[in-house]
Amino acid sequence: MSAILERATRAPALAPVQSVDPAFARDVLAGLSMQHKSIPSTWLYDHRGSQLFEQITELPEYYPTRTETWILERCAAQIAAEAGPEAVVVELGSGSSRKTPLLLAALERPSAYVPIDISAQFLDESVQALGRRFPTLPMAPLVADFTRLQTLPELAFGAAGGRRLVFFPGSTIGNFVPEAAVGLLERIGGAVGRGALLVVGADATQDPGVLVPAYDDAQGVTAAFNKNLLTRINRELDADFSATAFRHEARWDPHHQRVEMHLVSEYTQRVTVLGHAFRFAAGESIHTENSYKYGIVKFQALARRAGWTQRQLWMDAKARFALHVLERVR
Ligand code: AVJ
Repeated sequence: MSAILERATRAPALAPVQSVDPAFARDVLAGLSMQHKSIPSTWLYDHRGSQLFEQITELPEYYPTRTETWILERCAAQIAAEAGPEAVVVELGSGSSRKTPLLLAALERPSAYVPIDISAQFLDESVQALGRRFPTLPMAPLVADFTRLQTLPELAFGAAGGRRLVFFPGSTIGNFVPEAAVGLLERIGGAVGRGALLVVGADATQDPGVLVPAYDDAQGVTAAFNKNLLTRINRELDADFSATAFRHEARWDPHHQRVEMHLVSEYTQRVTVLGHAFRFAAGESIHTENSYKYGIVKFQALARRAGWTQRQLWMDAKARFALHVLERVR
């Protein structure tokens, strides 16, 4: 019997059927149908994407993480003084929660910690690590895309305790277009109420000589992070992207004051996703991320529109990164 016939007569191997996430399918199909193709950056964070992002934070070119950590190490005590005792801490997009211990250790008897992240595995690992460090602190991790959360978890805000403190580090706020950033901060404020604090990190850098390498590093980790989106679409949405048919690009847009990540098609090609065909011209791109950079005054104005007023402001000596401590005023 020939090899071909033998293969044809055998039952196909059983492959686990992965159910399609309808929100992912919708975002990808709609995004690839637009005149300027784009996919929301939240989809970069499957488990592999979250791992690659962790690697990015250690790169010599990627200054935001270490700069924000440097700032937090020096101002955590003053933030804790502003928060007062028994604060209830909610962290948005907590990822590996590397910076959280700096804040939790400074707080006076925090009463609960509620990390929210879309990667269940990352959430698990970080809660376990934090549990060893803070064994008596009640923790209520929540696997969720906080941008889609309508109400913030019960434990956080139903529980007794002191001031509500939302920790939103990493300049994640920069991944939203300004209108959406205002909407998000407004919604967070509505959930936590008057008097709550928001500790939010915002990248303030405007120098493309610093920014472009930070988003296109020499080791190619950011390129792998961006291209992992194609691998994820292939796996989860039955697609046939070739990772070598696209190249990573980081662009500084001075008009919008944002870094854009793109996946640029190397040549004319056709790709199928869930049975739908999409054509790419040579040089045409999929826009995969915005990372807005806010000067201090601009960020304060944005926060104010969303119902938050400045209590404290902390920056590094080069004024690359800002940690804003805001209070809910309505
Ligand atoms: C998710 C905001 C922390 O925009 O700087 C890093 C994601 N993308 N390199 C950022 C990211 C490419 C990052 N944050």
